[in-house]
Amino acid sequence: MTRTLADVAVEAADCTKCRLAEGRTQVVFGVGNADADVMFIGEAPGFHEDKQGEPFVGAAGQLLTRMLDEVLSVARQDVYIANVIKCRPPGNRDPQEDEIESCTPWLVEQVSLIQPRVIVTLGNFATKFVLQTAQGITRMRGRTYPWHGRTVVPTFHPAAILRGGGESSRQFLEFRDDFELVRETLVTLNPEPEPVTEAEAATSGAVAAAAPTSDPVIVPEAEPAPEEQLELF
Ligand code: URA
Repeated sequence: MTRTLADVAVEAADCTKCRLAEGRTQVVFGVGNADADVMFIGEAPGFHEDKQGEPFVGAAGQLLTRMLDEVLSVARQDVYIANVIKCRPPGNRDPQEDEIESCTPWLVEQVSLIQPRVIVTLGNFATKFVLQTAQGITRMRGRTYPWHGRTVVPTFHPAAILRGGGESSRQFLEFRDDFELVRETLVTLNPEPEPVTEAEAATSGAVAAAAPTSDPVIVPEAEPAPEEQLELF
């Protein structure tokens, strides 16, 4: 039987693969739509996320939720939100190499099961990790990157926007632009079907195409090859 995202979350909840298990309140696996077109990836849970068991619930999360609403016109529950690291590093220190290595399989499973079309990496850490680059976010942001048949859009971490001057800062405008880029990318990937003109509708072909048939042909979505699932990072 195929594992679902919920199965993986239950398994991850008891994870003791690294030392972060000792200090955490709980594993912060991820939240949102298991079938989302867009997945947001941050660094690691902070104080509030560790307490509540949900990523991006503090001030940075509120800014993220606002951008989802204002620019993408979606609610938090319509996208998927996760972190590279699922447990809070003590004092919010940087994750260590072996912790990243231990935690990576959870993220690989999340991406493999959700199959998001667009991945938004939030900040330096997630961007460097996903795109395997040494370049900082200031250089990387503002454009899209093809990644295993999907599209990655890197942007600033919302906490960096809040620390760096908030809405009056240039970074905030760029952050907002990056969300616009996500919106445009989604429109390009999922174009609205061309409206059928009256003239076209008058022809039998258009009517047949528009009418539901009792025996629909379902074209399955392409699944990535199993090897690809194991080598996402
Ligand atoms: N910062 C992150 O990177 N992730 C969270 O979940 C919260 C803050």
